[in-house]
Amino acid sequence: MKLATKLIHGGIEPDPSTGAIMTPIFQTSTYVQEAPGVNKGYEYARSQNPTRKVLEEALAISENAKYGLSFSSGVAATDAVVKLLSPGDEVIAGNDMYGGTYRLFTKVFEKYGIKFHYVDMFNISNIENLLTSKTKLIWIETPTNPLMNVVDIAAVTSLVKGKKIIVCVDNTFASPYLQNPLDFGVDIVMHSATKYLGGHSDVIHGCLMMNDPALREQLYFIQKSCGAVPGPQDCFLILRGLKTLHLRMERHCENGERIAHFLRKHPKIGQVFWCGFEDHPGYPVAKKQMRGFGGMMGFTLKDDSIEAAKKVLSSTKVFALAESLGGVESLINHPAVMTHASIPREERIKNGLTDSLIRLSVGVEDIEDLIADLEQSLNL
Ligand SMILES: Cc1ncc(COP(=O)(O)O)c(C=O)c1O
Repeated sequence: MKLATKLIHGGIEPDPSTGAIMTPIFQTSTYVQEAPGVNKGYEYARSQNPTRKVLEEALAISENAKYGLSFSSGVAATDAVVKLLSPGDEVIAGNDMYGGTYRLFTKVFEKYGIKFHYVDMFNISNIENLLTSKTKLIWIETPTNPLMNVVDIAAVTSLVKGKKIIVCVDNTFASPYLQNPLDFGVDIVMHSATKYLGGHSDVIHGCLMMNDPALREQLYFIQKSCGAVPGPQDCFLILRGLKTLHLRMERHCENGERIAHFLRKHPKIGQVFWCGFEDHPGYPVAKKQMRGFGGMMGFTLKDDSIEAAKKVLSSTKVFALAESLGGVESLINHPAVMTHASIPREERIKNGLTDSLIRLSVGVEDIEDLIADLEQSLNL
């Protein structure tokens, strides 16, 4: 099956008891057993739920994976991956990834004796230089959040081929519509399904997709033991979102391209970070591993101050000032104060997240309205 058909039909059968075309929401905590240990494959809803099971199958298919696991949030999915490690193990991660991932690594896991290195992954030799026998996980985000840097996934997997190092890609920004990291040899794909997969800003959800059955068992054990499971209603919403991912992403890409070019020509704009520009350093790799460039971008103002950024951020009418991304509605965000506030200023600036940096999640509205909205807010 091709992508659109997979997204609509993958893993989904009409409900066997009623024929319902949409997967029912099995809102139950437990399941009645015929005799002790004799059941229909469901015992207790932290371990199994039929709505979740259908979603996990659909998620796996969307990423060309054998297995999917769905979690109560993207952060919970990330947490499960790091819990595969032991004290003394080392992780190599990108230096401009999502602030919440950075916070989880530094504030929660460092104290359990796991060591994290943060590097610019654009240059693969930065990863190579840090590899030791203690390296157990490489955590990639590509494109990165919010500078849209691109990491060459295949180059990383060939670097660690034959070594016992798990490579995990946070594929939230690209979504399975634009990029399938498992096809480039990674071990795990992670998504904050809160974003493009759900697509309607109405649910918090996360997931992991993988091919190795032993890895799936370990991650499932961690999830069952730690309890970061999603509710069935949330699973239903992600299942519904998946069915229109391809339609939404097409429009996100179209609108994203128009807005990136509009911003680049605007006299008040400093830099525009969008990996679809042919002169973007990551363009050749993005072209190789992605099927489009999406609707996420960052830009700075010529007046690189928090005050100038705040003026723009407070005056858009169609772009809503809010954290998150990937929904049908356009959002505008100030990384320094909002999504990346947990990164110390010095570290933030060093990594290019300057004071006036603004992030856009371009939605699927009419492009003329989006451009007019940005124009009026920049000209105030
Ligand atoms: C790239 C990326 N990864 C992970 C997360 C965390 O996901 P969640 O908010 O669903 O826990 C986010 C949230 O913004 C994100 O943008």
